[in-house]
Amino acid sequence: MAAIYDYGPYGVELANNIKQLWWKDLVYQYDNIVGLDSAIFMHPKVWQASGHIANFSDPLVECRHCHSRLRADELLAQIGVEADETMPEDTINKIFDDYRHLIFCPDCGQQDFTAVRRFNLLIQSNLGDFIGSRSEPVYLRGETCQGIYVNYKNIMDSTRLQLPFGIAQIGKAFRNEITARQFIFRTREFEQMELQYFIRPTEDFEEFNKWKERRWNYYIHNLGINPDNLRWHEHEKLAFYAKAAFDIEYKFPFGFQEIEGIHARGDYDLKQHQKFSDVKLDYYDPVADETFIPHIVEASSGVGRVFLMLLAEAYYEENLPDGSKRIVLRLKPAVAPIKIAVFPLLRNRPELVVKAKTIFDQLKLQWRCEFDDNGNIGKRYRRQDEIGTPYSITVDFDTLDKNLVTVRDRDSMKQESINVDELIAYLSSKLN
Ligand code: GAP
Repeated sequence: MAAIYDYGPYGVELANNIKQLWWKDLVYQYDNIVGLDSAIFMHPKVWQASGHIANFSDPLVECRHCHSRLRADELLAQIGVEADETMPEDTINKIFDDYRHLIFCPDCGQQDFTAVRRFNLLIQSNLGDFIGSRSEPVYLRGETCQGIYVNYKNIMDSTRLQLPFGIAQIGKAFRNEITARQFIFRTREFEQMELQYFIRPTEDFEEFNKWKERRWNYYIHNLGINPDNLRWHEHEKLAFYAKAAFDIEYKFPFGFQEIEGIHARGDYDLKQHQKFSDVKLDYYDPVADETFIPHIVEASSGVGRVFLMLLAEAYYEENLPDGSKRIVLRLKPAVAPIKIAVFPLLRNRPELVVKAKTIFDQLKLQWRCEFDDNGNIGKRYRRQDEIGTPYSITVDFDTLDKNLVTVRDRDSMKQESINVDELIAYLSSKLN
């Protein structure tokens, strides 16, 4: 059960914000991008067409001593030997045998490994198998984009979209990942955010470069990532059908690792689905008076990886002038789980509590807010700093006398007196 995680009350808010921002940036901003929510279960033939049944595997070795299951390419990489996870079994076995004497099990320290074998990552279900005899299992989807390919024709026919157009989907994917390390970076159940952009065959490089630039800028401008912590990784060994493949990598505490892949996939996916479904998936282009199978540019990222990146990017431990320390998550307001916290100065003064509740009830209509009357004000500020709440509002005796609240900024810790009547306008200018 390793590599399966639950997101708690703040985690689910942050994850929802990540998904909403992605969706708005694509589906709301581009008139030619539409959304989709396809089912997790798909016909087994989909996974034959996609190549997952034959090829979606990683090289597995087992430690005979402690029975840990490990990825051979990762063990080799740790001793500086390059091996590609897509290598055929023979090739990677040969490399592994050459270096076996240098490889130790990370769990028990022994050097007794089995041969390497290719291990398919698709997770099977018993859907519809009421007597336990199905020879062709139904899988949990290994990536969300296959749902887009099999809906491409329905969407084109029902929306009258013309090339170029995109279909965006956010949803769960499942993989029997061999190694479960690095927290939520690599999990067996995870969420993907995938855009498939359908284009004319002549537009491959132009559209690929456009999407590369858009996605790079998204991380910097929309999510607030420092560009020094991002880099491109170009795939040297392309799949035979691919025209180009680049990953955006983030500098995690454990090194630069992929958060998003941007791939020019040519017409491979639609051709495969046309072949396996016997349904024509070509497109008549009225501009060129031609019929062809569209090419695809894909931008695919994971909610969990973006989540982990945001935590790594925003986490600061600060020494304050009074000698104390604080932990603060400097999240952009758009992703912060809680936007505003509201505190009555004293919980045993009903007039303060009632006023604070009234303000809280107004603000919560627009933003995710939290009411807190527990502990002293300093402690309440620290709690909100740790979860990245951009603004905290204190209701005190000035609120009752002069209609003023204190608004405290998370990053500068500066406090301002704001008239309650102007509070929504003030917060809108800061948060929206
Ligand atoms: N449709 C293309 C595709 O699925 P991928 O590189 O396997 O390509 C795309 O996955 C993205 O999905 C990755 O960049 C990563 O953000 C996320 N992802 C993939 N496997 C993951 C896993 N086991 N755990 C968490 N996120 C994962």
